Amino acid sequence: MSDYMDMLAAYGVTEARPGGRKMTKKLLSLYPLPTNSNILEIGCGLGDTAKLLSEVKNTNVLAMDNHSKMIKKAKERHLNINNITWKIDDVNDANIREQSFDVIVSESVLSFTDLKKSLSNIYRWLKPNGLVYLLEPVYLGGLNNKELRDYKNFYGFHSLLKEGEWIHLFQQQGFSLMDTVKDEGEIMEDVEHSKHFPELVIDQQIDEKYIKLMENHLYFTENYLAFFDYAYFVLQK
Ligand SMILES: C[S@@+](CC[C@H](N)C(=O)[O-])C[C@H]1O[C@@H](n2cnc3c(N)ncnc32)[C@H](O)[C@@H]1O
Repeated sequence: MSDYMDMLAAYGVTEARPGGRKMTKKLLSLYPLPTNSNILEIGCGLGDTAKLLSEVKNTNVLAMDNHSKMIKKAKERHLNINNITWKIDDVNDANIREQSFDVIVSESVLSFTDLKKSLSNIYRWLKPNGLVYLLEPVYLGGLNNKELRDYKNFYGFHSLLKEGEWIHLFQQQGFSLMDTVKDEGEIMEDVEHSKHFPELVIDQQIDEKYIKLMENHLYFTENYLAFFDYAYFVLQK
């Protein structure tokens, strides 16, 4: 578990992904979820998206995260929702029956994990023709080795792929790429102009170390913005 994830959990950041809930809603309006489906969300954090997924008619949502504090806070926030099962588990070694899910959603998670292993698990867990909605950073290039290393180390990224590398990896793992959905500027503009702050579910006492980490995170966000895009990849098995 990285310090960055511990910091997100301590602050209880509810939309810990670029574009936040607005971007998720944009994706779900373009690709509405099928009714009567079993959905897995990987790296659900505080459960913001799991809640949106649970609102589709007759769905069952399994919301997984390997951070126990995230799951604890997510459960407490959504006590009254009864079609979400919360599970502390790791995408790289969760024990899930093959072909269990119609849709698998993951937002701002897989770049932190062993990608080949995660994608191979996702493929096995999906039903035939199942869909994957994946929000991930897309590296645009331009950083020197040290800058890239500092960025990766701070966040605990396992890999930072360019768009072509993502697409190659998806194909290698057997998926068909249906679409790549990007923010056309309108969503990040809100973030850049601080028009939208995600809700926080903060620990009663925040350790000094997390305050410093949050400052560093804000530094990286501001100074590295030009080197990254982000995209929803819509895949099919
Ligand atoms: C940047 S946060 C995004 C959280 C949430 N998806 C959101 O958009 O608000 C990444 C989340 O992935 C979880 N995570 C990281 N590695 C994981 C793994 N190997 N298995 C399951 N969850 C993981 C973290 O604990 C964290 O909650």
